[in-house]
Amino acid sequence: MLIHHTIAAQRAALRGRAPIAFVPTMGNLHEGHLALVRQARAAAGPDGQVVCSIFVNRLQFAPHEDFDRYPRTLERDCALLREAGCDHVFAPDEAELYPEPQGYKVQPPSALADILEGHFRPGFFTGVCTVVAKLFHIVQPHIAVFGKKDYQQLMVIRRMVAQMALPIEILGGETLRNAQGLALSSRNGYLSDEQREQALLLSRTLRDMLQRHAAGAALEETEAWAMAQLSAAGWAPDYMVLRRQHDLGTPAAGDALVALGAAKLGNTRLIDNIEGRGA
Ligand code: PAF
Repeated sequence: MLIHHTIAAQRAALRGRAPIAFVPTMGNLHEGHLALVRQARAAAGPDGQVVCSIFVNRLQFAPHEDFDRYPRTLERDCALLREAGCDHVFAPDEAELYPEPQGYKVQPPSALADILEGHFRPGFFTGVCTVVAKLFHIVQPHIAVFGKKDYQQLMVIRRMVAQMALPIEILGGETLRNAQGLALSSRNGYLSDEQREQALLLSRTLRDMLQRHAAGAALEETEAWAMAQLSAAGWAPDYMVLRRQHDLGTPAAGDALVALGAAKLGNTRLIDNIEGRGA
């Protein structure tokens, strides 16, 4: 496995190589990321090249968010990636990727990017799309893998690739959970042991929302119930919603549903989602 810190080195190493399967990350890797890398490895085939980027992207953090506190664990990440079958790690520093303030940005449409995560994190998806577009230009992958844990992000990226006619196949990776059902996330590292137990309430409530709605409870009633569940347990929920899988719009009868939630437990904001089928 090769580690590249400059755009020129990464490009030179991939010149003429195909197929290229790419997993963009911000590092601080866990099993969930490694599953995406293994998926990329399988998609690229034995002769393909698997590239993983590690870059904590300032553009997608609001000033009050955890950019400075986000763990930088390059050495450990590289050891895990080598094990998972990665061929190239692209780990630029900020001055390499943003040598001047990034004035050109990729702004996704408001209907998809200013709801849910985008509503609570204004500008988040512009930051994500801008860095992902830039990484796509550098790596020029044929395949890219994004986790379904960031459900809305996966959808925003799929739409960007389709609308910009980028010749990249986007694959969604299933969310990995621990034995109790907690979705793996870099942010779980901020939780105390006690909070890890409490954190199970998020996925449990999303699952219950799908069941309640399938059993006949109205949408608004189900969402209000879920918000109350979390609040009563001391969380500060941002949203707990049922949306249609297709475009995250308000579902009609028969639409395939996804329950999505975001909530703060102490100082840590967790997100999760579970796909289901509505009544
Ligand atoms: O999902 C992430 O870790 C980030 O949003 C991504 C896609 C690597 C862009 O910085």
